[in-house]
Amino acid sequence: MANKLAIVTGGNKGIGFAIVKALCQHFEGDVYLTARDVQRGEKAVKELNALGLKPKFYQLDITDDGSISNFKTYLEKNHSGINVLVNNAAIAFKMAATEPFSVQAEETLRVNYFSLQKVCDALFPLLLPGARVVNVSSSAGHLSNIPGIELRQTLSSPELTVDKLDSLMQQFIESAKQGNHEDFGWPSRAYAVSKVGVSALTIIQQRQFNSDSDIIVNSVHPGYVDTDMTSHKGPLTIDEGAVAPVYLALLPEGEKNIRGKYIWCDKTVRDWYKN
Ligand SMILES: NC(=O)c1ccc[n+]([C@@H]2O[C@H](COP(=O)([O-])OP(=O)(O)OC[C@H]3O[C@@H](n4cnc5c(N)ncnc54)[C@H](OP(=O)(O)O)[C@@H]3O)[C@@H](O)[C@H]2O)c1
Repeated sequence: MANKLAIVTGGNKGIGFAIVKALCQHFEGDVYLTARDVQRGEKAVKELNALGLKPKFYQLDITDDGSISNFKTYLEKNHSGINVLVNNAAIAFKMAATEPFSVQAEETLRVNYFSLQKVCDALFPLLLPGARVVNVSSSAGHLSNIPGIELRQTLSSPELTVDKLDSLMQQFIESAKQGNHEDFGWPSRAYAVSKVGVSALTIIQQRQFNSDSDIIVNSVHPGYVDTDMTSHKGPLTIDEGAVAPVYLALLPEGEKNIRGKYIWCDKTVRDWYKN
């Protein structure tokens, strides 16, 4: 029988690296550490090899259509499907960043929301029955980070579609360029908008799977973690930050409740809609 398969994006450092590590220890199958940069990826694999762990490596830049399609073709040729997909890769501009807000908005949404979705669009057809998808969100991805009441209602509507969500994310970018995004109910925090998008997308993805499969998709706040993204200010270690994502990646067969949910770093389900 073919080996089971787990994939982690942005696995060369930080929480993604620790997720790969924990999956190598607890997932029975092949674990792919993917990274946009081959050198950084291979270095990370060597670090894990030194611990006696054996992740596989493949180059994957989630913003590059060619890279996504190469990876997909490779998987189709070499594996019989995906059991676990952890969409971890993301960026965050620093507080001190000098790029204009409009640039930060466009780039953050391009990577964290639209590119994550492209990976899903490419790889979801390869998901096997019972697959687990983990979209790494953030505390900033809770709906309460959106100030506009009407906008919050639209984002939380059970009728929200991917097309509608895409157009809302695009509208944030366009209004950020005009400097009037707050008039439409958006916060002046591009990272928060991107992660609210990821958590909203997760709910829609689960709804789509519910009709005909036992595939489970959840989004997760990994905690405030000591990584480059937080300039090493987070109190949690990367291994602690990996706990909730790995818990979701390994949810047992037959799980009925933790589906399309927003999970906190202590593995509890948080109400995404209410404070
Ligand atoms: N750290 C926290 O406290 C915290 C809190 C809440 C949520 N999160 C979320 O947790 C996840 C991991 O964050 P982290 O703190 O571990 O961040 P990190 O240390 O900055 O690592 C981010 C990872 O994403 C990769 N990446 C960025 N752009 C990519 C692209 N286009 N294609 C492929 N990989 C790409 C990076 O690769 P390079 O090394 O090549 O840049 C790196 O491997 C993110 O989704 C983040 O938003 C983190």
